[in-house]
Amino acid sequence: MSGPPGTYDRLVNSAANTAVIDVGELDLPMVEPRLELSIDERNERADAVAGEHWLARSTFGYMVLQYDDVVAVLRDKRWHSATSMIPDLMGVTDPTFRARRRTSILSAEGDEHVRLRRLVGKAFSPRSADRLRPFMRGVIDGLVDDVDDGGRCDAVAEICDPYPIPIICELLGAPPRDWQLFSRLAGDILKVFDTNLPDVLDVVMAASDELDEYTLTLIADRRSKPADDLITELIAAEEEGDRLSTEELTMMVEAVIIAGTDTTRNQLGCALAVFCDHPDQWALLAERPELAPRAVEEALRYLGAVRGTIRFASEDIEYRGVHFPKGTVMAAGIAQANVDPSVFPARRSFDITREAPARPMLTLGAGIHACLGAALARAELQEALTVLPRRMPDMRLDGDLVWKPATAAIFGPEVLPLAFTPGVGSTG
Ligand code: HEM
Repeated sequence: MSGPPGTYDRLVNSAANTAVIDVGELDLPMVEPRLELSIDERNERADAVAGEHWLARSTFGYMVLQYDDVVAVLRDKRWHSATSMIPDLMGVTDPTFRARRRTSILSAEGDEHVRLRRLVGKAFSPRSADRLRPFMRGVIDGLVDDVDDGGRCDAVAEICDPYPIPIICELLGAPPRDWQLFSRLAGDILKVFDTNLPDVLDVVMAASDELDEYTLTLIADRRSKPADDLITELIAAEEEGDRLSTEELTMMVEAVIIAGTDTTRNQLGCALAVFCDHPDQWALLAERPELAPRAVEEALRYLGAVRGTIRFASEDIEYRGVHFPKGTVMAAGIAQANVDPSVFPARRSFDITREAPARPMLTLGAGIHACLGAALARAELQEALTVLPRRMPDMRLDGDLVWKPATAAIFGPEVLPLAFTPGVGSTG
């Protein structure tokens, strides 16, 4: 060995540092959904796991928990969306179910995904979302009117659940008489991501059939009678001579209905539950409605309705000295990344006056699949968190708050009993 003393050691050490180890050989902590644990207990467990290793084993494969790793996985195009693989991972073998599967924007990759995002991007711009703000305000005000007499309500059933549906219908151009139908179908179809999928497969399939039929009629109607709505915009969307086919249109409309309802209502429920726990912050928001946009970002970070997502290695991948063979399933721990102390030092405190962090919370995703409806979701939550503190400035918990089971892919309260002084802040 030539060279000055110590070089050899350095080379060996650096080779050892960069040597790639197969992921299967690592001794890793395990993350599993423990239904019986409270949110605080789950947080503690996730902290303990994150303290042990940057990588963990999870139900279907592996999981990254730290902010930088979650962003790296979501931005690396070799990790493909595994959302459409969830039924397989849960052992669903039903041939009818498998045969009817088709690519959605959430599972498309590569050029196909780029093309879809390019075609529909404009329809989901912040400007398009802003146009709906007066309508959103009207909806949320109307929902409070309905419960205002008694000064008590179950915020989940009476405010959060019904809130996004009329907005999605208005966006799409679907008539108000179909609101109930949409609400049920969206809830049923999203059960496809629940971890007890085999038990609810029939419900999911029946709802998908019903939605297909409904959407095709809506599209046919708009083709003959164009209107000022999203379906007409998507039919007309064209880039360099390229257009969405009827099948793609159906997929997009359904993606909006499915991805845009249960997420938003659960997120609003999460936010209200957190505010019940922080009455000083609620009072501040009632006093200073201009804080609503910051309150939304903080609520999304502090308790997100989407706790994680899932990818698979489309080829062999090396990352941080670990070899992940093609096909490896990887969960991105969004909820854990949102409380990573290296990015959010005061991570477990809920503070709506905090300056916007240098790096954004990840509840709306990151990378190519980042939430297409982010501007709409933010607008809906901002309007709700402007109207509700005005109408219910002394909102408080009035009974037991019940959370959804940890099997629910979209997390939030199941029952949120509230009390408030009636007749405050009404503009009607
Ligand atoms: C607070 C409410 C919402 C949350 C927390 C949320 C969260 C997310 C997340 C985390 C992803 C990325 C999933 C992944 O990477 O695997 C996503 C994707 C998506 N979201 Fe949302 N979302 C919300 C509201 C909405 C709304 C209102 C719409 C539509 C109007 C929408 C439409 C979509 C679509 C179409 C995708 C797929 C994008 C793609 O794959 O390119 N979402 N959302």
